[in-house]
Amino acid sequence: MFGSMPRFRPEIAALRPYRVGRQLEDVARAHGLDPGDIVKLTANEGPEPPFPGVIETAAQEIARSNRYPDNDCWELGHALADRLGVDFTNLMFGAGGVALLAEIATATGGPGTNIVYPWPSFVMYRFVSIWAGSDTIEVPLDENHELDLDAMRAAIDEGTRVVFVCNPNNPTGTIKPAEEVEAFIDDVPDGVLVVVDEAYHEFVTDPRYRTAVPLAAERTNVMVIRTFSKIYGLAGLRVGYGVGHPDTLTEVRKAQAPLTVNRIAQVAALTSLSRPEELERRQAENAARRHHVMGALAERGLETTESHTNFVFFELGDATDRVVEEMTAQGVLIRPMGAGWVRATVGSDEDNRRFLEALDLVLRR
Ligand SMILES: Cc1ncc(COP(=O)(O)O)c(C=O)c1O
Repeated sequence: MFGSMPRFRPEIAALRPYRVGRQLEDVARAHGLDPGDIVKLTANEGPEPPFPGVIETAAQEIARSNRYPDNDCWELGHALADRLGVDFTNLMFGAGGVALLAEIATATGGPGTNIVYPWPSFVMYRFVSIWAGSDTIEVPLDENHELDLDAMRAAIDEGTRVVFVCNPNNPTGTIKPAEEVEAFIDDVPDGVLVVVDEAYHEFVTDPRYRTAVPLAAERTNVMVIRTFSKIYGLAGLRVGYGVGHPDTLTEVRKAQAPLTVNRIAQVAALTSLSRPEELERRQAENAARRHHVMGALAERGLETTESHTNFVFFELGDATDRVVEEMTAQGVLIRPMGAGWVRATVGSDEDNRRFLEALDLVLRR
């Protein structure tokens, strides 16, 4: 080795690298499988390609790749503002929701501060807090695997800068009714930013749930995060957005790298917005498939949470490692989430059939 090892911040050096789940190619090599035959249910991606028309507009945009993208995402932002019923100035875009979460933490956190979030929840809340130099305060879910908003409120102290409210929550898929989220927001002390992460918003069909977008547009202490990675099938292009008060967004943008959403992602998202009927079709299809998979898990005597998303969360207890490993060997990838629970994305009909078939085979052993 040439040179000395640079000195890294101790809290960064102490992190275990984030694993996005096992890569298809690794699994294929390890088990002698064809990557095309593997059913990947580990990352809550959509099972279908992008919306109709996206591939064509994206292909045309590649020709303009010698020019930087529009830093303001003007066209996409105006189309989205119309759709959401907010102003263009209420929106900021990022290279996926994850990038926006990191920018929010960077803009607000730092030594001597903390960030409060539910646990288990989206693993990146822990990472972005640590990157920002903030302490992490992880608040356990309640006995129904739902966010415990009272406990989260009680965990907020003088050092708290941000509270992440994951609604629906990943990995449990559970929702909090609008009234409870709104009461929580009303009760949060001054100076604390409530970030409602609605990455799975489009999948929810339960009338008790409502978006926090109107609140975020009005209030300086609320932001909503959404993504084009899930129902829109654009996970590979990396585009998400934040809704907030213009004054709040101005500050968060100061912690954002410029030109972060590339041209192709911008036109792909814009084209997707022009196909609301496709969005509705996917919503209905996912709801039916989720219902089917949850019913099938219940029939097998497995405990599930009440998921409102494009994934299911169920208990395998001590058998978790064996089941996950043996299903992997059959080319079906699901994700262990700790404490004997696993998460599996709701896939296409064929994916779900393969998932249940592999599960049955492995559980019978
Ligand atoms: C709860 C939650 N928030 C945000 C995201 C961000 O997704 P992306 O960075 O792909 O937009 C995800 C993705 O899995 C998620 O589960």
